[in-house]
This record gives sequence, structure tokens and C-alpha cells, in this order.
Amino acid sequence: MATALIILAAGQGTRMNSELPKVLHPIAGAPMLVHAMKSGEALEPSRIVVVAGVGAEAVTKAATDWNPMAQVVIQTEQLGTGHAVAQARTALAGFDGDAIVLYGDTPFIRPETLDAMLTARTDHAVVVLGFEAADPGRYGRLVTTGDVLERIVEFKDADAATRAISLCNSGVVCADAATLFDLIDAVTNDNASGEYYLTDIVQIARSRGLSPTVVRCDESETLGVNTRAQLAQAEALFQKTARAGALEDGVTLVAPGTVHFAHDTVVGRDAVIEPNVVFGPGVTIESGATIRSFSHLEGCHVSRGATVGPFARLRPGAELAEDVHIGNFVEIKNAVIDEGAKVNHLTYIGDATIGAKTNIGAGTITCNYDGVFKHRTTIGRGVFVGSNTMLVAPVTLGDHSMTATSTVVTEDVPDGALAISRTPQVTKAGLAVRLMDKLRAAKAAKGK
Ligand code: UD1
Ligand code: CA
Repeated sequence: MATALIILAAGQGTRMNSELPKVLHPIAGAPMLVHAMKSGEALEPSRIVVVAGVGAEAVTKAATDWNPMAQVVIQTEQLGTGHAVAQARTALAGFDGDAIVLYGDTPFIRPETLDAMLTARTDHAVVVLGFEAADPGRYGRLVTTGDVLERIVEFKDADAATRAISLCNSGVVCADAATLFDLIDAVTNDNASGEYYLTDIVQIARSRGLSPTVVRCDESETLGVNTRAQLAQAEALFQKTARAGALEDGVTLVAPGTVHFAHDTVVGRDAVIEPNVVFGPGVTIESGATIRSFSHLEGCHVSRGATVGPFARLRPGAELAEDVHIGNFVEIKNAVIDEGAKVNHLTYIGDATIGAKTNIGAGTITCNYDGVFKHRTTIGRGVFVGSNTMLVAPVTLGDHSMTATSTVVTEDVPDGALAISRTPQVTKAGLAVRLMDKLRAAKAAKGK
């Protein structure tokens, strides 16, 4: 059966104390909203509707950048979660199937949990995701009789007996879309907050003879982010899970607590990640590669047997073939480096291609930017680039060519040729000593 996602992301997020809409605060390099979308996308929904409001433009961009099939609807006034879901009605016109409501500020619901909710739908018109809370705090409470969920009571509206219930509402709801919108039509704002609560659909369903139910999940999945402290907790939880996952997958993490993963980092079996490595989004590390300490990687691909760092920076578009060596204080951006090439010390390679087995000497720089345009540097295979070579792009070094130390390359170098642009050396006998004597005498004269 077809599935639609409705992701609520219109709220202000006042307690974040931020200019940025709450759902755009990143966890592991991706907006919280993207995490919520990702878990729902695992169900292969035929529709995705994001309800935006506060910061709608930025929220729309984040949602559609991540998944162009997302439809964004605007809730101009934040009148409550029920009102927010109602905004998705027109976008889902003609849709026949189950709708799952997710919250943009609840990033860690597992796809398996959503699957369990869809399964429970076979026998129940409305399925709510609940969890046993160690500290139920201000969560809505689930009132049940056996399997049947009778109603959800918001903390503000709950009496002492209801507040004593530890089974809480995660916010995730699943129902046939037509039924969901019918039930929402009957929701009023007659409550302590004066809001249209999505949670009221349970009681309304009961009054219509339907039998809503609860699917339970672990509390860690339902962690909702309302404050910076909870954002930090969410990040810590993500990292803990990612590190455990990497170890499980056969990756060596020498000091797991110091390695920082992004939401989409892929690391192959028998890769070694040394302490204090940070992965930004879009990184793939193949089996048996080694990432040495204090390296920062983002948007790059490191092949089998390659070594990166210590203290290396791989920026978006860095593509390293097998057995490539990238050493300390080297920055690589938008560059393809072929098999067995070495860039070992103090170098910037940007907008370039480097052929197999080429060696780039210490302090080499691709001068790729003229202040307005970016230009490419093409370096062939088996090239020896001398230390401190400046490659003024656009420029090409042919296969098996060389550059002498300190050369400023402004013209293409043919295959097998050597380029040298160094100023000839002049050596003056005894001058160093004479110069120093003169300076010291001047200093002594001043001191008197
Ligand atoms: C909600 C639930 C509560 C549950 C808790 C779990 C209701 C009435 N209450 O409370 O039972 O225990 O989540 O975290 O549903 N939003 C909109 N438009 C609005 C209001 C909210 O899009 O008009 C979005 C928010 O951006 C957020 C989500 O809905 O992503 C939840 O809203 P929030 O105000 O945080 O609800 P809670 O008070 O936490
Ligand atoms: Ca919340």
C-alpha cells in the first residue's frame, strides 16, 4: 500500500534561542529535518509533505535540496500540531494510503519502528508511537486499556493521576490519510494551550468506535530537540551510535570517542581511523584505507590502501585512488589523484588532476584562483614536482615531466621535459661574516 509522510517543521523553536529555525540545526552535519526525512524515506513513500512556517524559505530549501520530491506546504500561523497536519490535506489530494506524521525536531526514529507501525495498521485505524520514559517530564501521556489507546493527554491538561503515567507520546502517528484528515476536522482548540492538538484525534477515533493502538519504541529514538542542551545530547547520541556501528562493521577506531562522523559517512571494513578525525558530510572511505590523526574530511572518496594525514584536509571533490598517500598539512579540493601518487607535505592541490605514481614535492601550490575564475591544473603520470613549485593554472605538466625546486610554472610542460624558472644563484665569498661583523659593530656603537 502507498505511504505518505507528513513532516511537521513549522514551529518556532523558541527555546533554542536562535535565528535559525529549529529543524535546521544540524546533527552530524545534516539538519534535524533531514534526519527525520531519512528515517521516513526508508519506507519508500510515494509522497513527502513538509509543513513549514517559521523560516519557511530556508526550511523549503533544506527539504527540497535533500529530496526534490518533497512538497512543502506553509502553515502561516502555528496553531498546533493538529492544525499543522491539516495543512497537508491539499498536497495529498488524490492520495490513497497510509499517512505517517513525523516531527522535524525528532530525528532518530528508526525505519524498523515505522515499519512496525504500518504493520499494526492492519488491525487498528490509528497507530501512535509511544515509549516508556525514564523521566516523562512534559510529554503527552498515553491512556490505554489493554491494546487500545483511549486518549492522549497533554501534560498541561493532565491531572495528577494522568501525569503519573510513564507511557509517553513520541508524536509519531500513522493512519489512513482520509481517516486522519476526517478526524482532524473534528479537533478543536479547547485546551490549556488554546492549540489544535493532533493528539486529540485518538479520543475522537474512540468516540467513533475505532480502536487506536500504541506501538512502543526505545526512548532513545524519540529524543525530541527543544533546547541547545538537547541538541548536544542528540549529537552525542548520534556519534555514540555511529561509532558502535563502525566498530561492528569491522572498522578500527583507535580512540572511538574522538572520531566524529557525519550522518552519511561510509567506512569500509579494515579501514583504520586514528584519534581525532572529523568527517563532514559526503565521505566514503574504502576498505583498508588509513586516516591518521587530526585529519578533516568532507565530500571526498578515499580508495583502498590509501593513507591520509596526520593533519590533512580533504575538501569536497577530493577523489583518491588506491594507494595514494596524502601527508601532513596538505589540503586537497576538487582534485582526482590517481593510483599510488604521493602528496606528502605542506601542499595545496585544488581543481587538479594528478596522474598515477606522480610525486608532489613539499610546499607545492596549485595557484587555481585569479580572484574571479578558478582554473585547472593537469599533471600527468610519473611526474616529479620539485619542492615549492607554484603551478599557475590553467597549466599542464606532461607525463614523466619534472619541475625544479622553486619553479613558477606558467606555461605547459611537455611529456618528459624539465621546467626550471629559478633565478641563478650568486655566491659572494666571505660576505656573511663581513655583514654580521658590521651589524654587530653598529649595535655596539648604539649601546654606548
Ligand atoms: C508534542 C505532542 C506531545 C508529545 C511531544 C513529543 C501535541 C499536541 N503534543 O508536544 O504529546 O509528547 O510532541 O515530542 O502534538 N509544529 C508545527 N506547527 C504547529 C505546532 C507544532 O509544525 O503549529 C511542529 C513543530 O515544529 C515540531 C512538532 O510540530 O516539529 C512538535 O511541536 P511541539 O510544539 O514541539 O510539540 P510538543 O509541545 O513538544
Ligand atoms: Ca517538541
